[in-house]
Amino acid sequence: MPPSNSVKDYIRTIVDFPHEGIMFRDVTTLFADPRGFRMAIDQLLHPYAGQQIDKVVGLEARGFILGGAIAHQLSKGFVPVRKKGKLPAATIAEEYQLEYGEAVIEIHDDALSPGEKVLLVDDLLATGGTAEAGIRLCERLGAQIVGCAFIVDLPDLGGRRRLEALGIEVHALCDYSGH
Ligand code: PRP
Ligand code: MG
Repeated sequence: MPPSNSVKDYIRTIVDFPHEGIMFRDVTTLFADPRGFRMAIDQLLHPYAGQQIDKVVGLEARGFILGGAIAHQLSKGFVPVRKKGKLPAATIAEEYQLEYGEAVIEIHDDALSPGEKVLLVDDLLATGGTAEAGIRLCERLGAQIVGCAFIVDLPDLGGRRRLEALGIEVHALCDYSGH
């Protein structure tokens, strides 16, 4: 592929994964490309230039890859939000809805301090259930969400509206409608 200035050009679509009817937006091809990956990190950070950010919180799994690079760029700390049962110390938990059933994510209960300003990061915003649960975890620890940054927004699934209704600023590098 020729070099591109558009993050979207580096994202691969896998049809019918993980099941029929789903167009999976695969960011591994973006992450694997040195130009694409740097561009994604720079663009994710762009709106927050000059704003105070104390911690970067990444949502498992691909939010770790983005969040680590962003935290390094900002010279700030990185905090993981993980699926239930993975974090070793004391945690708090939040439940959220999946397409079928529920899931639980956790954060260490000492990972954020009251008043800390957080940038929350994940690869993709669909229904917003995962991000909202992540926001609740941060807020329960007294942190303040400066913004939520994603590579991909799927606007038809309503995540952006859902987060904005909570007063959260959403930043996405590209979107896919219709699926
Ligand atoms: C995907 C994606 C987001 C989430 C978005 O993760 O990486 O984290 O779904 O969906 P939502 O906005 O409807 O909550 P997934 O749950 O597949 O897990 P993974 O990141 O661990 O692969
Ligand atoms: Mg995920």
